[in-house]
Amino acid sequence: MTQSGLFLSFEGIDGAGKSTHIDALARAFEMQGRVVTLTREPGGTPLAEKLRAIILNDAMDALTEALLVFAARRDHLQQLIEPALARGEVVISDRFTDATFAYQGGGRGYDWTTLLGLEQLVQTRPSPQGDFVRQPDLTLWFELDPEVAAQRLAGARVPDKFESQSAAFFSRVSDGYAQRLQADPGRFARIAADNPREAVWQDVLQSVRQKGWLA
Ligand code: TYD
Repeated sequence: MTQSGLFLSFEGIDGAGKSTHIDALARAFEMQGRVVTLTREPGGTPLAEKLRAIILNDAMDALTEALLVFAARRDHLQQLIEPALARGEVVISDRFTDATFAYQGGGRGYDWTTLLGLEQLVQTRPSPQGDFVRQPDLTLWFELDPEVAAQRLAGARVPDKFESQSAAFFSRVSDGYAQRLQADPGRFARIAADNPREAVWQDVLQSVRQKGWLA
């Protein structure tokens, strides 16, 4: 029997600590016999990874940045996400479209309505039941005080273009995530990322179990 595909995204400001939980969740699905495709944005395909290097390192205006992240997303959806979902796999992406609203919309202050238009353009899928806009089935939002995130990041590694932004920038990014949650609360699980790692993991597991996707 073919299982239906599942699409999960992890979101949060830089330093929120998503990575270890993404790997652990992938293993939890695999232990229950699911095939998991782990991926990330910007990136996930050879073309999108090339765009990632440009987006994270080169200076550009906010519209250019938005166009590049959506171009990368288009390729990612076409080449990797949609085929994996069609095969019934679990796709877990380290960031997806909410990050564009948070970073380019909130952080950079780029026009939200234009981003909504690009989202429609890039994520609309045809289906026999009518076109729909592809979104994750569940988005785990790691919420963390921007000041705490900045302390965690300090000295950890050479910061990229976004990681070197101010706490005020990350505060606007958080507001952007909050606005996305408000628009579609049923899609989000809020994870208190300032808790100890084991407690965070229990929250992650619980939010997926609640959906009935893990025993
Ligand atoms: P991140 O996912 O944190 O990867 P790493 O852990 O390797 O640093 O880095 C991606 C960065 O790109 C992050 O700072 C957020 C930013 N970003 C955007 O600005 N817009 C987007 O649409 C996406 C997906 C990411």
